[in-house]
Amino acid sequence: MFITFEGIEGTGKTTQIQRVREHFEAQGREVFLTLEPGGSRVGRELRKMLLHVDNSDITPITELFLYLADRAQHVARVIRPELEAGKVVLCDRFADSTVVYQGYGRELDVDLLRQLNEVAVDGLWPDLTVVLDIDPETGLERANSRNAENGISREEGRFEAEHITFHRRIREGYLTWAAMNRDRIKVVDATPDPDTVFERVLSIIESRQA
Ligand code: TMP
Repeated sequence: MFITFEGIEGTGKTTQIQRVREHFEAQGREVFLTLEPGGSRVGRELRKMLLHVDNSDITPITELFLYLADRAQHVARVIRPELEAGKVVLCDRFADSTVVYQGYGRELDVDLLRQLNEVAVDGLWPDLTVVLDIDPETGLERANSRNAENGISREEGRFEAEHITFHRRIREGYLTWAAMNRDRIKVVDATPDPDTVFERVLSIIESRQA
């Protein structure tokens, strides 16, 4: 099973992914946890370029190709082999991030992004995608305080530094895109406490497994 998690900054994706991992492990399943950008060896280099605040001059098209390169390498060298080994693969962000951030955020053509994603994923789409949804002000506040604690605001802060209107477009983009892909993408309100959010995430996963 291949499950991806999406959402704006600060929705609590990391916490939910950990819990989902524990859930599958308790069932005796082997779980492989990964992320984009940066899920492969080459991808870790791309991640540094993509997220460092000093790289604010990257053009939307350059950014797009770096994310697609990260994804193509990740699918071929990491995700597909792990799935073939029988593991549950949980991925923090995947192709939908490109549609939403580069499409609704940077205003590149969504249909073009869909086609380019097809090339990058090479037929490997998630069985399920969970979008954690939160009001952008709350999400950014959470993300910025987390980054300040971890001291990663410069290395990984390029998107957090975007104007609030960008984050609002991203949030709306996720909701629109999820509505267009109802079978695969499920939206969960990430405002409540982590236990409540997890209950909802779990019920979605269980109904998909049934
Ligand atoms: P994160 O790992 O902290 O979520 O940071 C990754 C950032 O990269 C996040 O702000 C969203 C952005 N992103 C894109 O713009 N397009 C993509 O395709 C992916 C995977 C991420």
